[in-house]
Amino acid sequence: MAIERTLILIKPDGVQRGLIGSIVERFERRGLKIAGLKLMKMTEALAAQHYKDHVTKGFYKGLVAFMTSGPLAALCVEGPKAIEVARKMMGKTFCTDAEPGTIRGDFGVSRGMNLVHGSDGPDAAKRELALFFKPEELFEYSRALDAAVVSDEDRA
Ligand code: RTP
Ligand code: MG
Repeated sequence: MAIERTLILIKPDGVQRGLIGSIVERFERRGLKIAGLKLMKMTEALAAQHYKDHVTKGFYKGLVAFMTSGPLAALCVEGPKAIEVARKMMGKTFCTDAEPGTIRGDFGVSRGMNLVHGSDGPDAAKRELALFFKPEELFEYSRALDAAVVSDEDRA
């Protein structure tokens, strides 16, 4: 199925800077559907699960300190090829490298404070969504605009 769900996090720097609305708006305007949305704090335990592939890396300690420093907004974003579409919308990992027009390229200028997270593939999306959302916190619903945003070909 070509309709995917992905985990997007608006990291603590995005919340502190008052950018929740501006970032969520980008996904909505693209036509993607918000299937889940909440404000929460990442614990060290959750960070260890979420960033399990990075535990041995030199930047891990600083990354966890940053990610647990304040509330973040977690979103489940849904749509055709949503994983890849969202990653492209976010831009390159470090804001300094991200192209204008992307979230990181428009709102950030830091390496570490890079505003957003997006799952990097179908397996990661499934695993990460389960870490951040209970099944009942994710919603299946149709919107009046769906017929104009998604075609039968996108769903095939
Ligand atoms: P993300 O997971 O946040 O969507 O970003 P990404 O896939 O582009 O980056 P990834 O390689 O998965 O790294 C996860 C986060 O770790 C921080 N990082 N710091 N100092 C460094 O060399 C370094 N490398 C990665 C970033 O906050 C990155 O988003
Ligand atoms: Mg990543």
